[in-house]
Amino acid sequence: MEYKQLGNTDEKVAAIGIGTWHMLDEKRDIATIRVSIEHGTTFVDTAEIYGNEELVGKAIKGFSNVFLATKVSPHNFHYDDVIKACDSSLRRLGVKQIDLYQLHWPNTAIPISETMRAMEKLKNEGKIRHIGVSNFDVKEFEEAQAALKNSDIVSNQVEYSILVRDVEADFLDYAKKNKITIIAYSPFARGAFFSGKYNAFVNVLADIGKKHEKSAAQVALNWLIAKNNVIAIPKASDPKHAIENAEAAGWKLTQDEISLINDFLSDIKKRPMTSVFKPIIKRHSGFLSKQLHRIRKLK
Ligand SMILES: NC(=O)c1ccc[n+]([C@@H]2O[C@H](COP(=O)([O-])OP(=O)(O)OC[C@H]3O[C@@H](n4cnc5c(N)ncnc54)[C@H](OP(=O)(O)O)[C@@H]3O)[C@@H](O)[C@H]2O)c1
Repeated sequence: MEYKQLGNTDEKVAAIGIGTWHMLDEKRDIATIRVSIEHGTTFVDTAEIYGNEELVGKAIKGFSNVFLATKVSPHNFHYDDVIKACDSSLRRLGVKQIDLYQLHWPNTAIPISETMRAMEKLKNEGKIRHIGVSNFDVKEFEEAQAALKNSDIVSNQVEYSILVRDVEADFLDYAKKNKITIIAYSPFARGAFFSGKYNAFVNVLADIGKKHEKSAAQVALNWLIAKNNVIAIPKASDPKHAIENAEAAGWKLTQDEISLINDFLSDIKKRPMTSVFKPIIKRHSGFLSKQLHRIRKLK
């Protein structure tokens, strides 16, 4: 495995981690997460909203080298709710400390200063080690950062894959300049990479991969982590996929190969996929969060 500096800290994290959304099958998914960690993907990402923190907690038990990331949902962004949500995540995960605690997506209905005050308290108390955000644009990130007294936001988790590259236009350069780690979620565009629809492109990657004895999927992940401040968190329930993904790190595409891929990408620029999450989050961040809050209250 290859390691990357986390934000502006001295800490190193695995360049390929494990995304766990939709991992709800105790038997299968715990086994896969453990195999994946054994192959080096020690960055494990979950969220309170995934409903699988207990499963993830069981899966990481006994590994001392796991870097554990989870997320607080926007309907819990009031001060007391952040504290309570964190305590609940700690309990479900069965750990004393969360390595990276992230705001899942912005909530325009709650002042960010209130939320960040709670995040900083959690950090000062040692319940979390680092503060991160997810689905934030530059303005939202700067507002969140400005609300912190003594901490830096180390990461922004955003949708990024060789097929969905919106972040290149709006956050990548800012992140590079400000030493913020980009955690690339849905690095296979939610599986669309394997759908057959993009085979013309996938075949180019497969050809490039042959020289390295790597698959198209491994080239797609390696292309992401070739950028200094980018790590990727593919989700794989199939242990073969998990091992293949772990082996996407620890080798390097040449600069010529990266240029070739980028040239090919610029040819298909007129019709790339775009993020499905981003417009939903932007349009409905306040509304969605309120609805979630109501649903939770009904339960
Ligand atoms: N912060 C956010 O708002 C947000 C939003 C979305 C996702 N995420 C995070 O990002 C993670 C990953 O994104 P995602 O779950 O949307 O999708 P993804 O990682 O882009 O794609 C997952 C799909 O690809 C398949 N796959 C994975 N590796 C493969 C391989 N080597 N060969 C063939 N197929 C492979 C998986 O199959 P199998 O499962 O059958 O192996 C699964 O169907 C999530 O689990 C979550 O942790 C975060």
